[in-house]
Amino acid sequence: MDTPQPQLAELLRQRYAGVVPGRVARVGAPVTELLLSHRSVRQYSSRAAPEGTVELLVAAAQSAASSSNLQLWSVVSVEDAELRRKLSVAANSQAHVRDSAVFLVWLADLNRATRLARAHDIEPEGLDYLEMFLMASVDAALAAQNAVVAAEAAGLSTVYIGALRNRPEEVAEVLALPEGVFALFGLCVGYADSASAAIKPRLPQSVVLGRDRYQPLNAELVREYDERMTAFYGEQQMQVPAGGWSLHSAQRVKNAASLSGRHRLVEALKARGFGLR
Ligand SMILES: Cc1cc2nc3c(=O)[nH]c(=O)nc-3n(C[C@H](O)[C@H](O)[C@H](O)COP(=O)(O)O)c2cc1C
Repeated sequence: MDTPQPQLAELLRQRYAGVVPGRVARVGAPVTELLLSHRSVRQYSSRAAPEGTVELLVAAAQSAASSSNLQLWSVVSVEDAELRRKLSVAANSQAHVRDSAVFLVWLADLNRATRLARAHDIEPEGLDYLEMFLMASVDAALAAQNAVVAAEAAGLSTVYIGALRNRPEEVAEVLALPEGVFALFGLCVGYADSASAAIKPRLPQSVVLGRDRYQPLNAELVREYDERMTAFYGEQQMQVPAGGWSLHSAQRVKNAASLSGRHRLVEALKARGFGLR
């Protein structure tokens, strides 16, 4: 028998490390409890996913909203072991890219729209604008997150792999991507090994939620969150980012060198045929 889902209140307590928002509607609880239970998993058992898992996840993904229903994304299920190994290397040698039961690569795809327009004798100059890359990226992210929720509902775990953008040319070559197609991120899906990851606390809602206007930064609330995150990492026996979450985040955005090769993305995208005007 499945273990019963912890109640919403307990999940909220974990999600905010005790700093629970004052009022939270208690409607639609089973799905919301699943969302609140999310944690990324980086260690997978060798157990295969049920047959048809990829198709189930892609059906969930395609059910997400899509800007003007343009459906400017595609996904590749990487099944060949050698290709998985190459992608793992390109993504900073993350072992789970190789080891998870399923590995999906989510693509911003302007190639299909180009072909479809040309079949109607229209040269799609509109695709040369940044807006279209943004639209494709937003739609792909919404689709992928639907797949994540479907996977978690099926008892599978996931982790996104943004590190695929560290070496975009290599990834494009491995997956034989045509012009106008860009690998946005990967997604590992599989059964977590026995040591399951904990729910990672987020910023208090009062930091991210404005009412009627933008909520200015409250440094004291962030300082308190730093303390909670340091305690969390300690409990998880994870390497504690020195100086807390905010310093770690600041270092992550410090300069081009902190972007692990991704400072070259405009160049890489333009070389792949994205106009970005
Ligand atoms: C677009 C995206 C890319 C990510 N890339 C990676 C990655 O390359 N490697 C990794 O271990 N985690 C990656 N993550 C997972 C985040 O580190 C994780 O979501 C964050 O630390 C919060 O933890 P949680 O998902 O367990 O709540 C990525 C997450 C997102 C949304």
